[in-house]
Amino acid sequence: MRILVLNGPNLNLLGTRQPEIYGRTTLADIERDCAVVAKDLGLTVRFFQSNHEGALIDAIHAARGVEDGIVLNAGAYTHTSLALMDAISSADVPVVELHLSNIHAREAVRHKSFIAPVSVGQICGFGPAGYGLALRALRGHLTEIETSP
Ligand code: DQA
Repeated sequence: MRILVLNGPNLNLLGTRQPEIYGRTTLADIERDCAVVAKDLGLTVRFFQSNHEGALIDAIHAARGVEDGIVLNAGAYTHTSLALMDAISSADVPVVELHLSNIHAREAVRHKSFIAPVSVGQICGFGPAGYGLALRALRGHLTEIETSP
């Protein structure tokens, strides 16, 4: 199974960005840990990060027919982007929404997600460990689809 781990705006700054919220783990650390978990689960992972909404949409379009699933941390676009929601609806690739922080325990503006209604599910609040959880959840979901009559 091929999985795209897609990270949105400001996540390139993980490690130094608001460490009291997001911790000290860098995106490179997260990607390294994902590769280990993926190997364990028999998944092939690819990584992409962009600060640009259009580039994220292009990456979702490009995943069509190529990737089996996407782990998506859309950063602040989660709370604003109808265009990302439409891209996910159009791509026909299952998405697991991911956030390091518990968006529901933060400011009200972060409680709304445009990604959630078009995702398989949402994982948030577990910090960097959430990425591994998301890979496991996606694998479980894809296996279920594969084996369901
Ligand atoms: C985030 C939560 C978003 O609200 C925020 O804009 C981010 C990071 C998270 O991983 O916790 O950039 O997606």
